[in-house]
Amino acid sequence: MSITSEADWDGLREIGRIVRETLDAAERATRPGVTTAQLDRVAAAVFADNGARSAPAMVYGFPGTILISVNDEVVHGIPGARRLERGDVVKLDVTAEKGGYMADAARTVVLEGASDRSVRLRACAEAAFTQALTVARAGNQVSAIGRAIEAEVRRRGFSVIRDLAGHGIGRTIHEAPSVPNYFDARQKDVLTAGMVVAIEPIISSGSWRVVEDRDGWTIRTVDGSVAAHYEHTVVITRDVPVLLTAA
Ligand code: CO
Repeated sequence: MSITSEADWDGLREIGRIVRETLDAAERATRPGVTTAQLDRVAAAVFADNGARSAPAMVYGFPGTILISVNDEVVHGIPGARRLERGDVVKLDVTAEKGGYMADAARTVVLEGASDRSVRLRACAEAAFTQALTVARAGNQVSAIGRAIEAEVRRRGFSVIRDLAGHGIGRTIHEAPSVPNYFDARQKDVLTAGMVVAIEPIISSGSWRVVEDRDGWTIRTVDGSVAAHYEHTVVITRDVPVLLTAA
């Protein structure tokens, strides 16, 4: 969506805050011995306290509140009986709805005992996001974002998972434009002031190729390599974007 009123700002700021608080609470609970279903209940409690709903459950019938993906699971993992272990790399992805507005953010939690490479992978996803912010400006092409992300990820020796992209958001989860995480010449859209987009580097320590699990949701790397994800919902302006899910 593109913001056209103060009510839009208020609605988006509110849902952005709820998403951030949910991620904070889920991250605090992410430790060895906890099941992903327990983390999902932590998130559900924050949603309930704030009158928010799970957007993937509403829009796509996702069987959980938030998406939790571990190690080679890249995105869309279903919370369940899996118990986290030392060294796990846990992607927490939260999209919430309130009052007709939606926001989406994700972060990667690296548990103690993980390899140096996993620690560097997590840092790379965040650094690629930061690089994307330097070119996410009204008047620039959307493709500038993917160009910046891909350059940073390659520089650090990792790979961009090309089948998954950022996206417009606001009134539903996935809106135009698509925001690829690599330079895609076919994406000719231009960023405009007030445009709301989710910027989300999704990267792999090995192959960038992915497969869907038999559960119909979970996306994994084909070669079992560990993946990382970092995402915020932002509002494009002529200057630095406004991070709705970091406030
Ligand atoms: Co997203």
